[in-house]
Amino acid sequence: MKMQGKDLLQLAEQFGSPLYVYDAEKIQSQYNRLSKAFSKVNKLRINYAVKALSNIAILQLLKEMGSGLDTVSIQEVLLGLHAGYEPEKIFYTPNGVSLEEIEEVTAMGVQINIDNLSILEQFGTKYPNVPVCIRINPHVMAGGNANISVGHIDSKFGISVHQLPHLVRIVENTKMNIVGIHMHTGSDILDIEVFLYAAEILFDAAKNFKNLEFLDFGSGFKVPYKKDDIETDIEELGKKLSKRFNAFCTEYGKELTLIFEPGKFLVSEAGFFLAKVNVVKQTTSTVFAGIDSGFNHLIRPMFYGSQHHIENISHPKGKERFYSVVGYICETDTFANNRKISEIKEGDILCFRNAGAYCFSMASNYNSRYKPAEVLWLKGEGHLIRAHETFEDLLKNQIPLPLEIATV
Ligand SMILES: Cc1ncc(COP(=O)(O)O)c(C=O)c1O
Repeated sequence: MKMQGKDLLQLAEQFGSPLYVYDAEKIQSQYNRLSKAFSKVNKLRINYAVKALSNIAILQLLKEMGSGLDTVSIQEVLLGLHAGYEPEKIFYTPNGVSLEEIEEVTAMGVQINIDNLSILEQFGTKYPNVPVCIRINPHVMAGGNANISVGHIDSKFGISVHQLPHLVRIVENTKMNIVGIHMHTGSDILDIEVFLYAAEILFDAAKNFKNLEFLDFGSGFKVPYKKDDIETDIEELGKKLSKRFNAFCTEYGKELTLIFEPGKFLVSEAGFFLAKVNVVKQTTSTVFAGIDSGFNHLIRPMFYGSQHHIENISHPKGKERFYSVVGYICETDTFANNRKISEIKEGDILCFRNAGAYCFSMASNYNSRYKPAEVLWLKGEGHLIRAHETFEDLLKNQIPLPLEIATV
């Protein structure tokens, strides 16, 4: 059953606000859409980027659809294993982590992806037989803003394509086993030509390695944030890249696996953040709607300048007025400036769209506030998948000073 505004309102009543709600059906349909777009590729693998939304119920849902996982920390690997993934279904693409952490993850049987020459040489010398993937930086400027553009020349990510001769020398000297080449150029990439252009760089790099099993094109698909917004034309990309990929496999002499690791594409639009209006405050220039949340729960507007469409689901049909929607954090935390929203009354529930990716997973306890609950809407029913935090959670792991030391 399709989720409606009234279901969201009912969930806010049942589980309290603020609240994250995820629509399982949307996640499933996005997964199927991506698979279908690349159905001409015989070996396709989708590795969900755990960092976007790491609740284990979401990981379980994606596992049932056949997804693998893209992880960036040993903790994300542990979450994946906990959710029931086989180690070989998990990729580990860290940046700037220690050799020790990489060794620990290797011992778990997870696919390692290395993104710098120093670790590559140390790892190859110690473990020449472990199958390794290499993250290339193709030097393509792509992505919605500077924080999420990671494939350009000044980026800390990946091994520069200009360092390929050095990279190949390390591989030859250590006799390490390179089974995959990877890139990820950024998030929110508007133009499919950028993907196709970067893919050519990856194909060129791949020719230097004889034992490849897969090519990983990362992610960066742009999702719509409002009505009629631009989104990546996945179907067109599927058509063009599949054809080029299949031709490359023929040239390479082996059927390789094509991998994507989407976060936003799978979960962004499936997420709804619900928050209650605590106060409507009219100043000389602005009407503020102050909600029972802040950048502690949803930091993207302040961090990336991202736009989340906001609706008043308590009174969706009211006369539209201009509001600045702000949080309760003791710093300026503005979600939206002078946005047209149906007339807001104190106590109304506002719904933020595109709240699936990089929203809860970036939440914190700043101002000593609790993190909200998460609910999965599945088969017409809301399932609590994370309870609202309590005071015990704030105290957990804190160790008070013994009284005699604390007194001066
Ligand atoms: C290596 C890597 N892969 C995949 C992703 C997922 O990107 P997106 O959420 O744009 O699909 C990211 C996001 O930062 C990433 O760093």
